[in-house]
Amino acid sequence: MDKLLIEGSLPLKGEVTVSGAKNSVLPILAATLLTDDACVLRGVPNLRDTNTMFKILRSLGKAVDFDGDKGVVTVSPSKNISYIADYKLVSTMRASFCVLGPLLAKLKKAKVSLPGGCIIGIRPVDLHIKGLKALGAEIDVEGGYVVASAKKLKGNLVYLGGVFGSSVLATDNVMMAAVFAQGNTVIESAACEPEVADLAEFLIKMGAKIKGHGTPIIEIEGVKHLHGAEHRIIPDRIEAGTFMLASLITRGDITIKNACCGHLGALIDKLQEAGACVCKSENSLRVYSRKNLKPVNITTLPFPGFATDMQAQFMSLMSVTPGISVITEKIYPDRFMHVAELNRMGATIQREGPHAIVAGIKSLSGAPVMASDLRASASLVLAGLVAKGKTAISRIYHLERGYENIESKLEKIGARIWRERE
Ligand code: EPZ
Repeated sequence: MDKLLIEGSLPLKGEVTVSGAKNSVLPILAATLLTDDACVLRGVPNLRDTNTMFKILRSLGKAVDFDGDKGVVTVSPSKNISYIADYKLVSTMRASFCVLGPLLAKLKKAKVSLPGGCIIGIRPVDLHIKGLKALGAEIDVEGGYVVASAKKLKGNLVYLGGVFGSSVLATDNVMMAAVFAQGNTVIESAACEPEVADLAEFLIKMGAKIKGHGTPIIEIEGVKHLHGAEHRIIPDRIEAGTFMLASLITRGDITIKNACCGHLGALIDKLQEAGACVCKSENSLRVYSRKNLKPVNITTLPFPGFATDMQAQFMSLMSVTPGISVITEKIYPDRFMHVAELNRMGATIQREGPHAIVAGIKSLSGAPVMASDLRASASLVLAGLVAKGKTAISRIYHLERGYENIESKLEKIGARIWRERE
């Protein structure tokens, strides 16, 4: 296994281009199961997670050709689609669970391994099951698999609000299961994330009849057939946000290209409240600060609220912003594995249930730290960029799941970052 080494405290300056959104391309790849035609996706990032989804589609009977340099993937039929998504692959990536809806829609049966929990929480699937049952599916859970079947799927009204608000992948699964259902389906308390809207746009290009995507009420009118389509994946708002924070934590000046400002409203608002300058243009933004930032409080919420996937990275910025900030995690109350590692670098952060109280200090010190999950590893990279001395981050396979070429992108804007064998 590799580890990432970072020599800190240089301002990062220049331009960086954001890749396609991991959390958009994964369900869109699953949606190709809904057609026997070829589909072409552009702006696809070369990540551990996208390659896992390629393997899952191949195991289900699709041919998947990916040009990693161009970011183009072609998914075409190769043999009869299998309805079983096996444990080996699904257990490595929760997002694989979103093959359930399309398999059920296309084959009227599906057997998908339960994704299990992960370090950020128990990750239940009760809303997925509730939604599919509402469409008429029989669902059993046996041997660690969800086994779904339906003689016919019928449109229905489905309320998908859970204890922690809406569910992104449950909305995706129910929307995809509804595309061939008889009649209309209305999803209430649907997730509004841009990645859900991007999936709906792709389904519409395939011939689906969907409206209201991006709002809490999505309507799907069942059709008989979906054809192949071409689609460009939206930019990754979490990668864009991570680079915005890289600029501020190093007191640099970075222009982030291929970023959609409309997807970053909550983060931009908080950074401006802290005193940062965010200059927005058509599809890029420039982030810098002429003065010391002020500490600000954040609470994570479903979109358009502050993204839980930006919480760990924001905590790194607040850990070197003198003063007290309170970070409240309302989506995954246990998503604080990065706290202990940041404290190993000298941060003074105290966890109180779903809150982290950050007493910002002037500087962190480099240290050997361990990545625990994707966004926690990003927060450690940010901390390493500003810490005095060298930081060595182990288990960086977590980082490789969701950030394409992050070392070369950071190196190009002045970071001293390299990889070594563990
Ligand atoms: C998606 O996960 C993202 N992953 C996550 O990003 C992101 O953190 C999450 O949405 C929230 O925005 C992908 O899109 C591949 P949820 P998802 O269902 O859909 C609870 C990253 O770092 N819940 O929206 O699995 C759940 O426990 C990853 O890129 C239920 O209670 O998340 C959580 O508290 C991490 N029952 C809340 O809802 C259910 O059936 C939101 O989860 C489903 C979810």
